[in-house]
Amino acid sequence: MERTFSIIKPNAVADNNIGNVIARFEKEGLRIAALKLTHLSKEKAEGFYIEHKERPFFGSLVGFMTEGPVVLMVLEGENAVEKNRKIMGATNPAQAEEGTLRKLYAKSIEANAVHGSDSLASAEREINYFFDKNEVKARF
Ligand code: CMP
Repeated sequence: MERTFSIIKPNAVADNNIGNVIARFEKEGLRIAALKLTHLSKEKAEGFYIEHKERPFFGSLVGFMTEGPVVLMVLEGENAVEKNRKIMGATNPAQAEEGTLRKLYAKSIEANAVHGSDSLASAEREINYFFDKNEVKARF
């Protein structure tokens, strides 16, 4: 059983798609092990995306991620990291497959509706960055 980390980004929250995104995860067999709605500070968003610090889109990305509330989640299930990535689709919605969350709910490569960990190692870092150990509930 794996855990992965997911963010419903400000554009999807603003568009009232929290329920649609969560329903999709549940329908595909992922369970919510932790969840919070919050508004990221600039410092918190910068720290989260630190690996992209030198990329030209970094400043804009941090601005976008702090423009409104986000939903932070820990998802649990078999093969959770890969399953979540499949459900999300490609980073760039123009390349995302039909029916994926990004195809359905993204506005642009930046406002791409959801974030998901790209590996087990990043899942662990990202979960620990936002959640205390006692906030994550094992469901299996
Ligand atoms: P995410 O999966 O959260 O990881 C990094 C984010 O940077 C990505 O989704 C996009 O929201 C954003 N981004 C903006 N421009 C680009 C780009 N050219 N390539 C990759 N990611 C980008």
